[in-house]
Amino acid sequence: MNTRNSRRDFLGLAAAAVAGSSLLPGRLFAQSAADKPALLGGTPVHAGGWPAWPEWRQAWEPAVLNVLRSGRWYRGTGEQVPQFEAAYAKLLGARRCLATASGTTALMVGMHVLDVDAGDEVIVSPFTFIASYNAVLANKALPVMADTDPETLTIDPASIESRITDRTRAIMPVHIYGMPCDMDPIMAVAAKRRVAVIEDACQAWLAEYKGRMCGTIGDLGCFSFQNSKHLPSGEGGAITGNSDDLLDRCASFHDCGRPYGGFKGARPYFTRGGNYRMQHFQAAMLVQQLEKLVQDTARRRENADRLTASLEEIPGIHPARLPENSRAVWHLYPFRYEAEKFQGLPRDRFTRAMRAEGIPCSTGYQEQYFDGLLDEAIASRGYKRLFGAQRLKDYRDSFQALKGNRQVCETTVAMTQNLLLADGAAIDHVAAAIRRIQAHGAELARV
Ligand SMILES: Cc1ncc(COP(=O)(O)O)c(C=O)c1O
Repeated sequence: MNTRNSRRDFLGLAAAAVAGSSLLPGRLFAQSAADKPALLGGTPVHAGGWPAWPEWRQAWEPAVLNVLRSGRWYRGTGEQVPQFEAAYAKLLGARRCLATASGTTALMVGMHVLDVDAGDEVIVSPFTFIASYNAVLANKALPVMADTDPETLTIDPASIESRITDRTRAIMPVHIYGMPCDMDPIMAVAAKRRVAVIEDACQAWLAEYKGRMCGTIGDLGCFSFQNSKHLPSGEGGAITGNSDDLLDRCASFHDCGRPYGGFKGARPYFTRGGNYRMQHFQAAMLVQQLEKLVQDTARRRENADRLTASLEEIPGIHPARLPENSRAVWHLYPFRYEAEKFQGLPRDRFTRAMRAEGIPCSTGYQEQYFDGLLDEAIASRGYKRLFGAQRLKDYRDSFQALKGNRQVCETTVAMTQNLLLADGAAIDHVAAAIRRIQAHGAELARV
């Protein structure tokens, strides 16, 4: 590391932070590079907190109360869920949308409709929230891990085809942290090998890839509206798509197998189904937040660009690369951390030092395929029957080959989306804190 340059850069940023402090009453700022890191007794670079999440507006309350007072709480009656479905489809440019109870159930319904059956395989992004794996397991299929591209943190399209077998029914790219996967090569391999694509867009509301919204590119797209999400209703989800047939089948399966649109039979319950319905309360919350979602997304993007520009200047900090002509929505803002450029400061000490500076951040997803959940599944009676011992052994061994994903799991640091709703001066504290920690890496490593 060139310490002299880093210090000079830091002084400039710290000065900018101090100059900006009048805009942010109540927040404390670093005065110079000589300041000790907060973990060593210095004053935190950022104090005063960050925007809270979720945000609720009083003006939205009557619509929720109307649902309460109407007594029309069941999805089969009432207007709020269909209204939300129409508005969300329009916002995304999708032909259809079906609201569901959660993102997990959206994925489960979607995979059922795409004919993912017991004993099938689904190629999954390994760097994801555990629900992506769980949804495949719920359909008694095997989540086969493709590798992760360390530069993009999303599925490496080049790692998909070699994992396709005669049992593969679908590919599940995950637009993790709201960063679009490189969909063109994924769609090409899916078309070539005749498998479906179900996009896990549970963190990617309004993310764009080459002029199209994530969740509208594959056969089906799935979203989550859980409390931490950019469009929250406590719980909730949606499936989007452009095929009436597939969406009719989704609507039917999510509603006990009742006939829907063109999907009907001679008897009332002619097909399998479950109850994966959304409530009108949730829809009333969601529909009112759509405009805010658009505004918040623009703000997060603006701040993420500002943050990326400042982080790219710091040796050992690597912001993610997005596919060409795509726009992320930053459910989390990640970067890869190179400890060697921080005088050997281990990543967990770095995140601790950052939190002490008032910048909440954490390590990203771990190598969850070693965490026991998949071992439990493949040791079960059902999986042994469905796949046989040799396939399950090869499957377990295959996790060792996920080198890109291992690198990502070992080096990623991420900040949650609410930070990106702060003002620009506060965003600059992130780089200022990192530079300060970098200048004291060796001391911090000894703490
Ligand atoms: C990538 C991803 N997939 C699936 C889900 C599941 O969504 P839900 O929690 O609404 O079931 C989530 C939710 O956090 C997610 O982040």
